[in-house]
Amino acid sequence: MKDGFSKLTKSEKIDWVIENFFNSSNDDLEILKQYWSEDEELQKIHDEFSENTLTNFFIPLGIAPNFLIDNKNYTIPMAIEESSVVAAACKSAKFWSNRGGFKTEVINVIKTGQVHFKFNGDKNKLYEFFENSKSKILNDCNEISENMKARGGGILNINLIDKTSEISDYYQLSSDFNTVDSMGANFINSCLEQFAKSFETEFLESKLFDKGENLEIVMSILSNYVPQCLVKAEVRCKLNDLKNGDIEEPIKFARKFIDAVEIAKNDISRAVTHNKGIMNGIDAVVIATGNDFRSVEACAHAYAAKEGKYSSLTHAKIEKDEFIYWIEIPLAIGTVGGITNLHPLVKWCLKLLKNPNGKDLMRIIAVAGLAQNFAAIRSLITSGIQLGHMKMHLINILNTLSANKTEKEILINYFKKNKVSFRSAETALKKLRNDELNF
Ligand code: MEV
Repeated sequence: MKDGFSKLTKSEKIDWVIENFFNSSNDDLEILKQYWSEDEELQKIHDEFSENTLTNFFIPLGIAPNFLIDNKNYTIPMAIEESSVVAAACKSAKFWSNRGGFKTEVINVIKTGQVHFKFNGDKNKLYEFFENSKSKILNDCNEISENMKARGGGILNINLIDKTSEISDYYQLSSDFNTVDSMGANFINSCLEQFAKSFETEFLESKLFDKGENLEIVMSILSNYVPQCLVKAEVRCKLNDLKNGDIEEPIKFARKFIDAVEIAKNDISRAVTHNKGIMNGIDAVVIATGNDFRSVEACAHAYAAKEGKYSSLTHAKIEKDEFIYWIEIPLAIGTVGGITNLHPLVKWCLKLLKNPNGKDLMRIIAVAGLAQNFAAIRSLITSGIQLGHMKMHLINILNTLSANKTEKEILINYFKKNKVSFRSAETALKKLRNDELNF
């Protein structure tokens, strides 16, 4: 047990952890230090993002050019460690940019939150009280929502919801919000906490209730489930236009593709992996643009189960002679607030995207998810996933095996024509070192 750890200085924290977990090893101390920025101001910004920061944790930032979205060209930043994701995005971007590109539609941008509370009295009186105090509750929030209103958003409504059929005495004040270009978590939570305060104060002052009728606020919090903050991204082309590289028989390819999506729609084992591939693309852009990938993930998977069964987030069909393929996904993200104005690389990534507003970033992220899924299914139903995946992963294997620069060059060349696995790379490296590698 270490009391008051957060109050130690950064260097005291490091001393403590190195002494207690790394046997005071200088090498382990150096590992932490080598990730520090030489720019002290920059390091300070990063240190202050979070509590007990010791160092920085690098994730590669790559870019995927050639995305044609609603007739505009984008180069998309992706922060991800998985070797094949950016390459897959690039491949899909190029493929679809030659076939009209991606078309998107932001269906809605409503976010919600709830004050969860218990009330043990007469339901009708509670509804009457709520109707009478509603405008006071909303007015009490004016100061908090002033700025958001000025930006074109704010509180959209507030409703009393009876949840007593699920939990006895349980109700909600449920509210919808438009947070414009911000993710809006702080705004929503501040409004909800104010609602709760006003609601409780009004309740205590009300003459409507009898002695034994009590109200207890349980909690006030936004919901990360935002099915009304929804975006759609779509691609379509003539079946014959699908022909490209390993897609030799376009109609057969389209049918097999639709089968693959149907399997993901119906089988949970496949659906989770299918959606994980979509999230490879989505999370990478969400992280690069300084957004909260945990909330996006949690919401996406809940949305995938909205019909009562976990299913695919993408859809595909053939209509007449056209292949149509789309994603519909809720995305609560922002381009202002949070760390978006603070993290220099996040600002750089947003600039690369031509400083999109919230809606435009929703479009871009949905496209990244669809592109990723297209690349995955394309590989799965043609060459198989391992060919491309292992080719991209080869460099990690060679680094793990401590191959030097020349060895890496030779082996990357060698594996252009040979199957990659950890074992085959290990054997090839051994042979190379013994002068036994035959091309
Ligand atoms: C790997 O990170 C993602 C895939 O498994 C997705 C999929 O199977 O659709 C390739």
